[in-house]
Amino acid sequence: MMSFIVKPSLSDCESLLSFFDQWKVGARDLIITNRYVLEPQLNGQDAPCDCLYQEEYGKGEPSDEMIDAMLSAIRGKQYERIIAIGGGTVIDISKLFVFGDGLSCEEIFEKGDVLPRKRRLILIPTTCGTGSEVTGISIAEFKKRHTKIGLAVPALYADEAVLIPSLLSTLPYEVFATSSIDALIHAVESYVSPKANAFTRAMGRSAIELILKGYQEIAMSQKQQLPQNMSVFLTASTMAGIAFSNAGCAAVHALSYPIGGEYHIPHGKANYMVFAKVFEKYRELKADLSPLEDVLKDIFQLRSRQEVWVPFFSLLDHILTRLPLEELGVDEAKCAEMAASVIQNQQRLLQNNPVELSEETIKQIYIRCMQS
Ligand SMILES: NC(=O)c1ccc[n+]([C@@H]2O[C@H](COP(=O)([O-])OP(=O)(O)OC[C@H]3O[C@@H](n4cnc5c(N)ncnc54)[C@H](O)[C@@H]3O)[C@@H](O)[C@H]2O)c1
Ligand SMILES: [Fe+2]
Repeated sequence: MMSFIVKPSLSDCESLLSFFDQWKVGARDLIITNRYVLEPQLNGQDAPCDCLYQEEYGKGEPSDEMIDAMLSAIRGKQYERIIAIGGGTVIDISKLFVFGDGLSCEEIFEKGDVLPRKRRLILIPTTCGTGSEVTGISIAEFKKRHTKIGLAVPALYADEAVLIPSLLSTLPYEVFATSSIDALIHAVESYVSPKANAFTRAMGRSAIELILKGYQEIAMSQKQQLPQNMSVFLTASTMAGIAFSNAGCAAVHALSYPIGGEYHIPHGKANYMVFAKVFEKYRELKADLSPLEDVLKDIFQLRSRQEVWVPFFSLLDHILTRLPLEELGVDEAKCAEMAASVIQNQQRLLQNNPVELSEETIKQIYIRCMQS
């Protein structure tokens, strides 16, 4: 059965100040953001409402401890709208604020499918990666479980997503690289998912084309610097978000979560550590990757599908360095432990693989990732 959900409504805006004006942001609103993302956009003005700065509650990507500290900080306040201005970290945390007061992160993850929604949610991405502004998913590290877990429930869709490309002008190159590779992987994994359909593939194909053409320009310039036209990457990451929100991500994401959770590697970088070897294994297991290979064949102007993989991964290597697992101190025993964690915690993602992967096969993939 085909299914394709398009949520929330999407708009764009020229600047953050004009967003504040047009959306009448004021006392009943709470902005969740980073000070260093917000302040360069204010031209010396004050923010029009209360702000909660994520970096004051913990480092890196969302964890249960960070989320609990942030939820506690606004206990008892009567905000009507939550406005997230940030990358996937800020957006994923902000989604958990729609349930109102008095809940812990663990309770939200346990009961999220039945909890009533109490606040409106507006999401404004400042990276070009997660597409979280158009997904009903929030991902957090659970410290005691040594991994990241995703919660996917309808209440986590925003009411509105607003794209403001000028917010990406302060993005460090490394975050551009890790987040745009994440977006590419969303488009690629959803393209070969058993849930893919004509609508998810239309979004996925456009995202792959926009990102790879942008990467080709960066590779030609031989400089690792932000591209001039960041709005292309923002459009692509939102399109990839719509694609994977419907057709799902799969083993690349599943295998990256124990790495991200345990070693605190940024999400896109952890994905990139396992991307090539997961797809190498898919090919060995004769998964049907032909729809994706056709897209890549056109982009790289090649004659046969078999030729696409070498130029594809060598282009990505221009954008981001692949970190071998060995450099994190991972040995074969750790590979076995992480494979068991994937089987135990990531079934939501593994069901979208184009071919089934056993625990032993996942361990073999990790072992191959020990060296780059
Ligand atoms: N919910 C979903 O659908 C979904 C999908 C994929 C990934 N994720 C999650 O998203 C998180 C990663 O998000 P991300 O890749 O967007 O990175 P991020 O939000 O962690 O940001 C990386 C760093 O860049 C900074 N930053 C962000 N925008 C900036 C800007 N414009 N200028 C200057 N600095 C800026 C952040 O403060 C942070 O220090 C992970 O936790 C991942 O699991 C969620
Ligand atoms: Fe991702």
